[in-house]
Amino acid sequence: MTDPIFPPSAKVAANAHADAKKYEEMYAASVNDPESFWGEHGKRLDWMTPYTKVKNTTFAYPDVSIKWYEDGELNVCVNCVDRHLEKRGDQVAIIWESDEPGGDEKITYKKLHQEVSKLANVYKSLGVKKGDRVVLYMPMIPEAAYAMLACARIGAIHSIVFGGFSPDALASRIADSKAALVVTADEGPRGGRAVGLKKNVDAALDICGDVTTLVVARTGGGPGNKEGRDHDYATLMADASPDCPAEKMNAEDPLFVLYTSGSTGKPKGVVHTSGGYLVSASMTHQYTFDYHDGDVYWCTADVGWITGHSYIVYGPLANGATTLMFEGTPTYPDASRFWQVCEKHKVNQFYTAPTAIRSLMALGDDPVNKCDLSALKVLGTVGEPINPEAWNWYHNVVGKGKVPIVDTWWQTETGAHMMTPLPGATPTKPGSATKPFFGVQPVVLDPTTGKEITTTEAEGVLAIKDSWPSQMRTVYGDHERFVNTYFAAYKGYYFTEDGCRRDKDGYYWITGRVDDVLNVSGHRMGTAEIESALVAHPNVAEAAVVGYPHAVKGQGIYCYVTLNAGVESSDDLRVELRNWVRKQIGPVASPDLIQWAPGLPKTRSGKIMRRILRKVAEDDFGSLGDTSTLAEPEVVDDLIANRMNRG
Ligand code: WT7
Repeated sequence: MTDPIFPPSAKVAANAHADAKKYEEMYAASVNDPESFWGEHGKRLDWMTPYTKVKNTTFAYPDVSIKWYEDGELNVCVNCVDRHLEKRGDQVAIIWESDEPGGDEKITYKKLHQEVSKLANVYKSLGVKKGDRVVLYMPMIPEAAYAMLACARIGAIHSIVFGGFSPDALASRIADSKAALVVTADEGPRGGRAVGLKKNVDAALDICGDVTTLVVARTGGGPGNKEGRDHDYATLMADASPDCPAEKMNAEDPLFVLYTSGSTGKPKGVVHTSGGYLVSASMTHQYTFDYHDGDVYWCTADVGWITGHSYIVYGPLANGATTLMFEGTPTYPDASRFWQVCEKHKVNQFYTAPTAIRSLMALGDDPVNKCDLSALKVLGTVGEPINPEAWNWYHNVVGKGKVPIVDTWWQTETGAHMMTPLPGATPTKPGSATKPFFGVQPVVLDPTTGKEITTTEAEGVLAIKDSWPSQMRTVYGDHERFVNTYFAAYKGYYFTEDGCRRDKDGYYWITGRVDDVLNVSGHRMGTAEIESALVAHPNVAEAAVVGYPHAVKGQGIYCYVTLNAGVESSDDLRVELRNWVRKQIGPVASPDLIQWAPGLPKTRSGKIMRRILRKVAEDDFGSLGDTSTLAEPEVVDDLIANRMNRG
């Protein structure tokens, strides 16, 4: 069976930053001589002290060390704001769209410069110094971007905690980073409801001890400020000077810490530094989305995730782009909201997650079709493998069959896109992240021997052979954990913890985290593959597949299936789905157990928590571990109550 291929249109290729030939040339240059390539492309930034050294990196265990542009000095805020003032001071930098339709705000680069400078002075007045950590616990409002950039301006290190995290999670991050300041808002409106951010900060500080706070009044609600500890944002901003010189930072000074969960232990503080991070974030933003001056670009992520860091704030602003920031949710007040916002602001590049695409797909085509999406030029996806069914809907219904899709594979740890099509260069295949970005050298390793599989067609674990500028540098406060997590299993490589397949055309297909790869009767298969098959069934809205111990096969296949609204569950439907999967993939992928799940346990960012699903499938739900990051903890009770007998 050959996969369908969608080549870039001649028109897109003609105007793109890179067509196929240019991609090949640049890619070859980037891996043949990284020193010259990145020496050249580092110049896309403004440096206060130009670098003379470009790359100084080793993956050799245990002496892993990663430095880029190590003698260069720059300021990230200057690169994202000040340097645009002359040419585009009056251009809109940030379009803000509020939760309630009708509210929006346009912030020019001039205004952005003023707000950020004032806020940087407010930070200083609260005692924040270069190198201090500032925790941001913010809704999606322009002040979140100001708060990030103001840190960069004075050399403070921000650590954003997603607004959906609980007080416990927030407290542990404040404590782990020994934060000097917490910036928050009274409440954050989302989907017509107010999230009690300040209330959660109060609860977190009860746990970890008092820290100075700065509170934006977004709704005027919330618990009110505590004398001597909490400061009102507007009051301090009113008196702040708009003149704040930017700190000269070394390229390797940390820009931010972002906590991310692994398969074991407490979340790791992923550290990204200033120079290399911004080179990669801005370059990928330009090439992956084929961003041109004057385009309106929208990434629907939250700034609490790496996607929000690199592709709402740093990448776009370093490029002098207009970036849209959305406070709300895809389905509030109705299923058309995303598309209404695209129409209203004439969005040219739209970037979202497969989970959002699937949930909107389940609500039909009408909400899309009633909006004018003619401005769209590129559609992006990120966060998990996208099943071809969702890809096709995105392509046909949202993109009317004409808009290239970029499926971007990367990680919190990688800082920027690692594998992705380029709109004018790469023929796409639904479900494949296609080819590496410049400078990225993916390899497929045999998981047992750790050896590189050198044939074009390959299946194994995905590792990266050499460093790229936005690679994470360390785990905050625990370099050993960094070295052991990513460089110990396969010596000499960065281990992504993802499984992947490379097809005959050299295209990469991410099969999911390797802990999600099943081995059924000696056959390896990605849970993503089975999920994709299930979701392709007209009655299925969403599916998650995990392994469970099976006496004969080693592992059996346990499927949690959410049916489309209005579809009745039945044993007949179970049989039908089993046959459907057998037909799509083969008898070896035949589901052993199918549980009807009205909801799947997801983090607030929409990632399915497989750990919990595995535990339930293993009948081991007495030790579910931390469920505090779940969006709807109650779905777990239903899963347990209706779990399937393992026989
Ligand atoms: C993991 C990283 C990077 C931004 C958001 C997630 C999975 C990410 C894709 C994609 C298949 C993907 C991988 C990766 N992933 N993008 N396009 N296709 N899988 O960041 O939370 O650090 O998660 O997300 O499994 O390892 P993250």
